[in-house]
Formats: sequence, C-alpha cells, structure tokens
Amino acid sequence: MKLRLYTRAVDLKGFSVKNCPSMPTPSSILMCEPRYYNVSEAHNPYMGGQKINGALALEQWNDVKKAFEDLGRSVETIDPVEGLEDMVFTANQSLTGLTPRMERLCFLAQMRHPGRRGEVPHFETWFKEKGYKISKLKDPAFSFEGMGDAIWHPGKRLLWGGHGFRTDPEVYEPISKAFETPVVLLKLVNERFYHLDTCFCPLTQEAVMIYPPAFDPDSLELILRLFPIVLAADEREASSRFPCNAAVVDSTAIMQSGSSTAVRHMKAIGVVAREVETSEFLKSGGSVFCLKMHLY
Ligand code: ARG
Repeated sequence: MKLRLYTRAVDLKGFSVKNCPSMPTPSSILMCEPRYYNVSEAHNPYMGGQKINGALALEQWNDVKKAFEDLGRSVETIDPVEGLEDMVFTANQSLTGLTPRMERLCFLAQMRHPGRRGEVPHFETWFKEKGYKISKLKDPAFSFEGMGDAIWHPGKRLLWGGHGFRTDPEVYEPISKAFETPVVLLKLVNERFYHLDTCFCPLTQEAVMIYPPAFDPDSLELILRLFPIVLAADEREASSRFPCNAAVVDSTAIMQSGSSTAVRHMKAIGVVAREVETSEFLKSGGSVFCLKMHLY
C-alpha cells in the first residue's frame, strides 16, 4: 500500500477507500471522570468564562458512559488529576490504532496550549501499563492534538488528518509512518471548528457528516471525492449542538440532543441517533466524541 499524504484531489489519481486495507474497529473506549473539570483558561471561542456545574457535568458524563456501555462498548477510565481541567477530553492526548502487524500503538499528542501539556504524560503511563507501543513526535516545535484532529476512516487503514488550529500538517508524515497508513489532510479555516472532530463525522464507510464552511476548497473536494454520501450540518446546529461531534457505534450516533435536521439526515441513511445532554462540556467546546479515546 502506498503511504501517501494527500492534500489535493488531483493527487488522488488511482487512490480509493475501497482499496485501503481494513482495520478492526475498537472494542472499548477510555474516559476520564470530570472531577476537576473546569473552564478557567480560554483555548477556543466557546470558552467564555461560563460557570461549570460540577454535579451536572458528572451526571452528563455518566450518561455518555452509559450510552457507550448500552451499545456494547466497555469503558475503561484513567484517574483525573487536580489542576488538569481539560483532562476529561480524552480524545486529545493521543491517537490510538493498530499497525498492520496488529500491534496496539498509541501516538502521543503535543498540545498547542501549555495549560494542557501536563495531561499527556498521564496518558503515556496509562497506555504503557496496558502494553501499548508508544510513539511520539521528534520535533517539539509541532503541535498534534490526537484524535481531536486525526480520525480513522471507519473500518479502514486510512486516516483523515485535520490541521490549521491545534495541529500542524507536518506531523502527519511521522504519524503515517508509525501506523503505516495513508493520510488525507484537511485544512480547517474557521476557528469555531478548531478540531476536525467538531466538523467531520464519518458515519459509515460511505457516509460522512460535515460542516462545509469549516474547510478550505481543496479539503472539501477531497471529502467529496472519497465519500459517496456527504451530509451537510446546518450552521445553527453545527455551532450550538455539535452534531459532527457524534460518536458512532455500529449504526448508532451518540450525540448532543436537539440537532433535529442532522438527526433526520442521519436517519435517511440508516444511522439512528441516541441523544444525550452534554451542555456542561459544550461550554468548553466539546461534546461526545471528545470525551473518549478508542481502545484496541
Ligand atoms: N476545552 C478543550 C480545548 O479547547 C476542548 C477540547 C475538545 N476536544 C475535542 N476533541 N474537540 O482544548
């Protein structure tokens, strides 16, 4: 398989998703209880100094956890650490996956904001103890925010690599080598959609939901070329309820409630919504997808 980084549709030539080897889907997920969760430092446009209701955040987090468990995904947890207020967003400290030899690999993040950098060593320890092989970037100058920006194509050895706000495009070369995977790079241009997982949600091997104005034209063309079905989230829902931050388990999308248009469009292609409340996490610019890491 060619280990290529694709940045424009003209580069695709004979490349197709169908020809990418398959990769097993994750069996469980990793979450972190919001014991010390707070919003005191603004890292994105949603973080406007709103007060967090800690008891409500815990209740919502437990509901999200239960939704995964009800759908057959077991949930492991990492202990929260005082002072690391964003640690609950376990999508960001790493990207996990399987190599072609089925080794479990954890590629560690390098957070853009100094306030979040202290989270990563705790995840490194956790994954080492579980027997994962650990990889990291060699160059400390670049940022990479894990599965917030790097999203696997469902069931395929193909990575979608967002960049522009939290992740630098240069990181996708070492990541491509570590996982032995092609990467399709997507440039984010709208700061309200600062991570790829806020505007890009693969629903099946053929279908994705996106918020189109979050991408530059070359990236949109890549998405349209590689997914036969592209659902567009509308502006109001996309920025207030994060439907593109749904977490898909088989053909169920666990998502923030209230995105009726997105729910209708998903249903039309056979994906049912399981709606949950994540209002306390939306105050920090995150929802369901951000609250978990895949485990293999
Ligand atoms: N407050 C967090 C930050 O700005 C939210 C992270 C949300 N995570 C995500 N995968 N989009 O870093």
